[in-house]
Amino acid sequence: MNLLDILKFSEEYLQKYSFSKPRLESEKLIASVLNIDRIGLYVYFDKKLDKNEKETVKTYLKEMVTKNIGFDELLKEKGGNDLDLKDYREENRFILNKSIEYLEKYGVPNARIDAEYIFAHILKTGRNTLTLTFNRKIEEKELQEIKDFLRARGKERKPLQYLLGEWEFYGYPFKVDERVLIPRPDTEILVEQCKHLVVDMEKPKICDIGTGSGAIAIALGKELPQSQVLGVDISESALDVAKENRKLNGADNVRFLKSDLFETLKDEKYKSARFDLIVSNPPYIPAEEYKTLMPEVLRYEPQNALTDNNDGYEFYERISKEAGNHLVPKGYLAFEVGYNQAEKVSEIMRQNSFDVISVVKDYGDIERVVIGKKREEN
Ligand SMILES: C[S@@+](CC[C@H](N)C(=O)[O-])C[C@H]1O[C@@H](n2cnc3c(N)ncnc32)[C@H](O)[C@@H]1O
Repeated sequence: MNLLDILKFSEEYLQKYSFSKPRLESEKLIASVLNIDRIGLYVYFDKKLDKNEKETVKTYLKEMVTKNIGFDELLKEKGGNDLDLKDYREENRFILNKSIEYLEKYGVPNARIDAEYIFAHILKTGRNTLTLTFNRKIEEKELQEIKDFLRARGKERKPLQYLLGEWEFYGYPFKVDERVLIPRPDTEILVEQCKHLVVDMEKPKICDIGTGSGAIAIALGKELPQSQVLGVDISESALDVAKENRKLNGADNVRFLKSDLFETLKDEKYKSARFDLIVSNPPYIPAEEYKTLMPEVLRYEPQNALTDNNDGYEFYERISKEAGNHLVPKGYLAFEVGYNQAEKVSEIMRQNSFDVISVVKDYGDIERVVIGKKREEN
């Protein structure tokens, strides 16, 4: 029985006994039992009630009917003893504000947003609906969990995404931990562009080089159910996460393979495979710049996912050089690039028989995606 079912049941029950506002009375009763703000009740319309909650609602309904009184009166009669009627909103806001201050003290950017995510995660609600649950008491166990998360986020500067264990990319959930790079919003632009390139093909074959969590491969596989996607990565542990994410998203048209760029694809078994699109968000941060990154990135994200320990162009060179051998004629090569890299990457692609057909900017007006098309050789 979910919240809407019990509301309906309660309304009909009170109606049968001629209560004048059966819907309102039912809402007040159920909101109190579930410790939810009445106004926010419908946000939780599909919440399943446990046995205890159902019994409590039924008991109060019976009492209201027997005594022929509304829910407010019933509460007054009980002196608020049975239900915890204290309004915790102020107290909880205070705890939230203190948490934000704590994160700020440790230099966490966007401290409010992170604190809200942490509270929402522990209180098992969404960030947008957090304040609606704030009229209930935060239990001691939950407070302890919040404190542990805050310490990890603040003092230890662990990325929020690793703490939560799951993060959304292109509208799909992805498990993330220290084995994989956290998928970034900029990469969604790459996915969007790739989708447009092959959406009209009957059965496009796509290869994602350096798949990490599987974010690009799985998002494309889900968006293009007619496609066949292969994600490759050199890191076995990253591939374990990618496989979990394939399962989580039910992306049956996506496969993963361990390979140092195209190495495994040269094996007998794969060597005839030709892709319509090769996409990659490779490690592109130059070695010098890598040292200056935020503690969240330096301490927790895999180094080999971020930097080539060189000038930042090594993977663009290596991939561009070989991609042509694995593409169909006029196949596409799409890269995410770092700040200021678009021009040189375009040049590398041209030198390797690709016509650069577009360079796309991200939301911060930075050239972020470079797309090439395999040139037809005479
Ligand atoms: C920037 S991350 C991209 C992860 C994911 N595709 C994304 O966009 O969120 C780069 C990925 O390349 C992988 N990688 C690094 N060197 C590689 C190599 N030689 N061959 C294949 N993958 C490699 C890393 O393990 C990492 O998962």
